[in-house]
Amino acid sequence: MLSINNLSVELKSPDNPFIILRDVSFRLKKGEILGIAGESGSGKTILAKTILNLIRKPVVKTAGSIFLDEKELKDEKDFAGIRGNRVSMIFQNPTGSLNPVFTVGAQITEAILAHNPNIKKKEAWERAVSLLSEVEIPHPAERMNSYPHQLSGGMNQRVMIAIALSCDPEVLIADEPTTALDVTIQQQIILLIKKLNIEKKLSVIFITHDLGLLTRIADESCIMYAGEILERLGAKDLKENRMRHPYTRALKDCIPAIGDKRQYLNTIKGTITFNGASFDNKCVFADRCERKTERCVREKPEFRDGFSCFNPL
Ligand SMILES: Nc1ncnc2c1ncn2[C@@H]1O[C@H](COP(=O)(O)OP(=O)(O)OP(=O)(O)O)[C@@H](O)[C@H]1O
Ligand SMILES: [Mg+2]
Repeated sequence: MLSINNLSVELKSPDNPFIILRDVSFRLKKGEILGIAGESGSGKTILAKTILNLIRKPVVKTAGSIFLDEKELKDEKDFAGIRGNRVSMIFQNPTGSLNPVFTVGAQITEAILAHNPNIKKKEAWERAVSLLSEVEIPHPAERMNSYPHQLSGGMNQRVMIAIALSCDPEVLIADEPTTALDVTIQQQIILLIKKLNIEKKLSVIFITHDLGLLTRIADESCIMYAGEILERLGAKDLKENRMRHPYTRALKDCIPAIGDKRQYLNTIKGTITFNGASFDNKCVFADRCERKTERCVREKPEFRDGFSCFNPL
C-alpha cells in the first residue's frame, strides 16, 4: 500500500548538520498496523512528516522515494492530493491540536466540508455526529456543542481521530497518540484504533517510544535508532523475545513488567548518538552495544532478513 524506499533526511544547518534519517525503507501492507518505536530524537516524527511532505528547511530530504499504491509521490502537488485525504495523521497532544474557540462539532463539520464542498452544512453536521459515535464518544449529539477545554484529553484524542477519519482515509499515521494520556485512557484509544483498523480496513502507522504498546497493537514493528531502522519483527516475536538485534533486546529489557522484583530498572548505557558521516562505515549502535566486535566499527551491517547486525542474538 505505502512503500518507503531508502529515505534519507538531513539537517542542513551550518553549526550542527546531521543525518536525521538514514536509508529508511519499509512497506505498509493494506489493513496492517505497523509500529515504529524509538527513543526520543530517533527521528520518528520527522519520518511521519516526510511521508506527508511536511518537513521544511533546514530539514531536507536528500534521497529516497515514497510510493502510495504503485504511484510515486514526487512533488508537493502529489502530496497535497493525498494529505488529509488518503493519508491522515494524528498527533501527541490532542487538546493543543484543537482550536480552543470553536466547538468540537464545528471543527469536525469544517473538516468534512473541506473534503466535500458540495454537501449541505446540515448533512456535514449529521456526518460529524456519526463520526463521534464511531469513535465511541457517549451522547455524540450533545458533545458536538462542547469546547475542547470541556472535554478530557482522551475525549479530545477521539475528536482528533474523528477529524482524521472525516476524509475516509486509507492510511492513518498516529504519532504518539497516547503519550499525553493516562494508562486506562491509553488502553481505550489503542482498542479504538484497533477497532477502526479491523472494521474499516484502515492501515495504520503507529509511532511510539513505548515498545510495550507495540506488542499490544502492532502486527509488525520497526525499531529505530538514531534515524536508522535496526530491526523489523512481528508482534509475536517481539512479545516472546525472539528479536535478533541487541538494541531491540536492550529496549525490551527496559520495560518493567507487573510483579517485577528488580530493585532498579534497566537502562541502556550511554546516550543516543547524532548520526553523520562518522557512521558511514560503522554500526550506529556499536558504541552502546554489548555484543560489539571489531568489525562493527569498520563496516556498516546491511539490513537483511529483518535486522542489521553482525552479531545477532
Ligand atoms: N526543525 C528542526 N530543526 C532542527 N532539528 C530538528 C528539527 N526537527 C527535528 N530536528 C531534530 O531531528 C531529530 C529527530 O527529531 P524527531 O522529532 O523526529 O524525533 P522523535 O523520534 O519524534 O522524538 P520524540 O520521541 O521526542 O518525539 C532530533 O534530533 C531533532 O532535534
Ligand atoms: Mg516525535
